[in-house]
Amino acid sequence: MTEPEPLLSVRDLRTHFHTDAGVVKAVDGVSFDVMPGEVFGIVGESGSGKSITAMSILGLVPMPPGRIESGEILWKGTDLLSATDADLRRIRGKEISMIFQDPMTSLNPVYTIGQQIAEIVRVHNDVSKQEARDRAIEMLELVGIPRPEQRANDYPHQFSGGMRQRAMIAMAIACDPDLLIADEPTTALDVTIQAQILEVLQHASEETNSSIILITHDLGVVAGMADRVAVMYAGQIVETGAIDEIFYEPRMPYTWGLLESIPRLDQRRGGRRLQPISGSPPSMLRPPSGCRFHPRCPYSDGDRCVSDEPSLIELRFDRQARCHYALQPGWYSPGERLAVAEVEWDVLIVAATDRSAAPDVDLPDDLAAREQVPETLADALTASQKPGRRRSRKS
Ligand SMILES: Nc1ncnc2c1ncn2[C@@H]1O[C@H](COP(=O)(O)OP(=O)(O)OP(=O)(O)O)[C@@H](O)[C@H]1O
Ligand code: SF4
Ligand SMILES: [Mg+2]
Repeated sequence: MTEPEPLLSVRDLRTHFHTDAGVVKAVDGVSFDVMPGEVFGIVGESGSGKSITAMSILGLVPMPPGRIESGEILWKGTDLLSATDADLRRIRGKEISMIFQDPMTSLNPVYTIGQQIAEIVRVHNDVSKQEARDRAIEMLELVGIPRPEQRANDYPHQFSGGMRQRAMIAMAIACDPDLLIADEPTTALDVTIQAQILEVLQHASEETNSSIILITHDLGVVAGMADRVAVMYAGQIVETGAIDEIFYEPRMPYTWGLLESIPRLDQRRGGRRLQPISGSPPSMLRPPSGCRFHPRCPYSDGDRCVSDEPSLIELRFDRQARCHYALQPGWYSPGERLAVAEVEWDVLIVAATDRSAAPDVDLPDDLAAREQVPETLADALTASQKPGRRRSRKS
C-alpha cells in the first residue's frame, strides 16, 4: 500500500519582518507535512512563530514589514507562494479555513450569525440564498448550538464566548474544507468550555473529514487531539514526532519544560507546584548564539551549546529533535519525569470524573473550583491514552 501524499508540505519557510530596529526572523527555516485527515499540533510559547507560520500558509502576513524570504508551501502539490491572489482567495475559506483565537475579531457585529455563515457558503459555492441558509443551520446544529433555526437570527453579541467559538467553527467548516487551521481556538475560554470546544472541533473535522493544524501554547490541549506535533521555539521547529513520542520520549529540554508546565497531578507527592520554563522567550531580533534555548536550558554545557547551532537531528522516520545531545543514551528519560507524565494522565481522568475515587488528588485550581467536571474533559484526556491512535485518512 502506498503512503498518501501530504495535503500540505511546508519546506524551509522563512518569514521575516523588516523593522526599524532590525530584522525579526519570526519563522526561520520551518518544514513540516500535514497528511490527509490528521490533526497536526504546533506548540510553543508566545512569540515562537506559530501564528506567522499559519498566516504565511494563508498569504495573510502583512507585507511590508513582512517578507517571505524563501521556502515552499505546497498545497496538494501547488506552491502557494507563487499562487495568484485570485487562487489564494479561492483556496482560503473553501479548501483551507482558519479559526482564530478571538471570534469577535472575525465575526461582523452587524450581521446575524446565520447570515455570516450563509455568506461564506455563497461566496464559494453556486447555491441559492435558501440553500446557503439551510447549510448555515445545519452547521450550527453540527457544532452543538441548540435551536439552530432561531439562533441563526442572533447577532454575535447575543452569543456567549463558547457559543461564538462554536459559530466560528461552523463558519470554518461550512464549505467542507480539506484543512482547518485553528490558532489558539480555546485560549480565551474557561477550562470547561475549552474541552467542549475541542470536542466540537474534533467532531466537526471528522464529519467533514478535514485535517487540522491545531496551534496552541499548551501541550495539554494537543494531548487529546493531535496525531503528530511540532514544538516551536524562537522561530524554529525544535522537536517533532507522534503525540505519544512527544509525551513519553521527548528529546529536547524545551519540550521537557513544556511538559512540566502542564498542570501536574502528583502535587500530593511533595506538594510540587507548576514549573513553568524559567526565563523569557528570546528576542527575535537578536536570537541567542548556538542553541537558541541555551540561556534557559538547565542542561546547557556552556560550550558547544553556546557556540554551535544544533541542527534538527533525525532520530527515526518522522521524528526529529534539535539538541546536540538528542542521541545521547538515556537523554530522553531523566529522572522520573516520563513515568510521572504517564501516571498523571490516568490520575487526572479518574480525579476529574469521580472525585470520590481520588479524593486526595489536587486538581488544578480551575478544575477544582467546579463542582462537576464535564465528561468531555475526561474524553479529551482519555484519547491521549490510546497509543498509536490514528484517525482514518482521506484516500
Ligand atoms: N507585524 C509585525 N512586525 C514585526 N514583528 C512581528 C510582526 N508580527 C509578528 N511579529 C513577530 O514575529 C514573532 C512571531 O510572532 P507570532 O505571532 O507568530 O507568535 P506566536 O507563536 O503566534 O505567539 P502567541 O502565542 O503570542 O500568539 C514575534 O516575535 C512577533 O513579535
Ligand atoms: S543543545 Fe544544549 S542548550 Fe540546547 S537544548 Fe540541547 S542541551 Fe540545552
Ligand atoms: Mg499566535
